[in-house]
Amino acid sequence: MTIIDGKKTAAEIKQEIAAEVKEIESKGGRAPHLAAILVGHDGGSETYVANKVKACGECGFRSSLIRFEDDVTEERLLEEIKRLNEDPEVDGFIVQLPLPRHIDEQRVIRAIDPDKDVDGFHPVNVGKMSIGLPGFVSATPAGIIELLRRYGVETKGKHAVVLGRSNIVGKPMATLLMQKANPGNCTVTVCHSATPNIKEICRQADIIVAALGSPGFVTEDMVKPGATVIDVGTTRVADSTRKSGWRLRGDVDFDNVAEKCEFITPVPGGVGPMTICSLMMNTLKAYKG
Ligand code: GUN
Repeated sequence: MTIIDGKKTAAEIKQEIAAEVKEIESKGGRAPHLAAILVGHDGGSETYVANKVKACGECGFRSSLIRFEDDVTEERLLEEIKRLNEDPEVDGFIVQLPLPRHIDEQRVIRAIDPDKDVDGFHPVNVGKMSIGLPGFVSATPAGIIELLRRYGVETKGKHAVVLGRSNIVGKPMATLLMQKANPGNCTVTVCHSATPNIKEICRQADIIVAALGSPGFVTEDMVKPGATVIDVGTTRVADSTRKSGWRLRGDVDFDNVAEKCEFITPVPGGVGPMTICSLMMNTLKAYKG
């Protein structure tokens, strides 16, 4: 059994990016620049954005954080997006989700220039990914593919079961795993809240990607010996032994599942660190044009 170390892999990739940025700067080029729009003060979003800004520093990128209060109008937000679309010094930008309920998230996403959409959320990028054209791929599934690649996980001809059908993880993950590529070339089954026999389907999986947001959902009896299990879950659960009062728990019952696996990702330290790393890779790609 191999524990896939996302933290270590992410640190290596950030070093590789930083070396490339140094090389660019030594030739007189400017550093890549990522901007982030954050609306309101949601705790999770604050942490994610702070980590993205920190990762930019580690990669030698320039970063800008643009903040709005919860009551910002959709028009004002769209105006800011237009400004970032037109700013030649900004290579890529993200709008941290979720947005307040009075703002139409899809309208905001569609306003982003697809060439600066380093989150890969714009329908143009989603469409390009689905037909195998180059573009920006959503950070979490891109990070998982990178982990599979770097750990040499055999995917060709395997049965991959994706648990969850969100637009930013489940759906793109299924698309990438079925792509004629390496990693890829899987036979993919997507399970969701209306799937009646999830346990049975999981037992047939060579690869399970769990992205439901249901702590400990994947139990030992659902995993075939020698399977690869990728855990995307990051639910905050109460933990009185921690100063914060909480800890992150994945969608997999790691303690009982791990010994059955060929490869497994832990939570924390598995997929999470890779997500931000993919955003950095996408920003460098946006910079290079
Ligand atoms: N909210 C949760 N995950 C993400 C992400 O990857 N990008 C953005 N912009 N918002 C998120």
